[in-house]
Amino acid sequence: MGASTADDAAVYRLNDQIAIVQTVDYFTPVIDDPYTFGQITAANALSDIYAMGAKPLLVLNIVGFPVKLLSMDVLVEILKGGADKVKEAGAIVAGGHSIEDNEPKYGLAVTGIVHPDRVITNAGARPGDALILTKPLGTGIINTAVKGKLADDGARRAAINVMTALNDRAARVMIASGASACTDITGFGLLGHLYEMLAASGVGGRVFLKDVPVLEQVRSLASMGIVPGGAYRNLEYLKEWLRWDNHIDELEMLILADPQTSGGLLMAVAADQAEQTVRALEEEGVTGVRIGEIIQSDLPLLHVEE
Ligand code: CO
Ligand code: CO
Ligand code: CO
Repeated sequence: MGASTADDAAVYRLNDQIAIVQTVDYFTPVIDDPYTFGQITAANALSDIYAMGAKPLLVLNIVGFPVKLLSMDVLVEILKGGADKVKEAGAIVAGGHSIEDNEPKYGLAVTGIVHPDRVITNAGARPGDALILTKPLGTGIINTAVKGKLADDGARRAAINVMTALNDRAARVMIASGASACTDITGFGLLGHLYEMLAASGVGGRVFLKDVPVLEQVRSLASMGIVPGGAYRNLEYLKEWLRWDNHIDELEMLILADPQTSGGLLMAVAADQAEQTVRALEEEGVTGVRIGEIIQSDLPLLHVEE
């Protein structure tokens, strides 16, 4: 399984029992604290393994670092943050490679395993399925505000909590719910990654704006014009496929398209499993919210309603 449906990771069947799942992700710093940056980057990279219903085993670090400009202590902290997240995930860091670079870059290539019959892709969503999202939106907007020194400490901390949280427990519930499709929400935003799921599955979708969880202060920051360029680009890219209620402000659409760093899982589960899945997520300490549904459609049209 490769890149044709824009899924989260590549899958290679070794035998009847085991397939390997392989992914790589890397970033320039999204935050000024090196240890937290390491944690976020690792949680984000591991997330693609979880989104496929797989278990992470092994990690290789990828590092670019300006050795002449920054103290090596900064790199040590970045790697420590990453290693601690990898350990929390029950995987191991087996090595890596570093080069000198003009700005810090950190990433992880992650190898996981899954039973070949239990791979969960973004291509299996069925009409009638409920859509459940496991983290609130808005980290892109808050990160932008933090860079401009326009976010208060509460907003900053809330975004950090979201970005450093592993999707491991969410994935366990997702697998147990018999989800028909799953993806994680990252740079393409909720709308972008949902669109990919719709296109891969040959269906349409409906999102109820009032149900979508958004971090506190995100709406007020966005109304001050603090919206990353990526949100505008995502919305522009998707416009052919988006249908929205004309009562809905463009600002709300930008929030739905906000590029997320280490966002939650978006899963499609049978409607009669939705309530139980949300409860099971809650028992795992994960906020899972039913935000919409999959509908029959020849085109991957995505309707946003109030
Ligand atoms: Co992904
Ligand atoms: Co990725
Ligand atoms: Co996937």
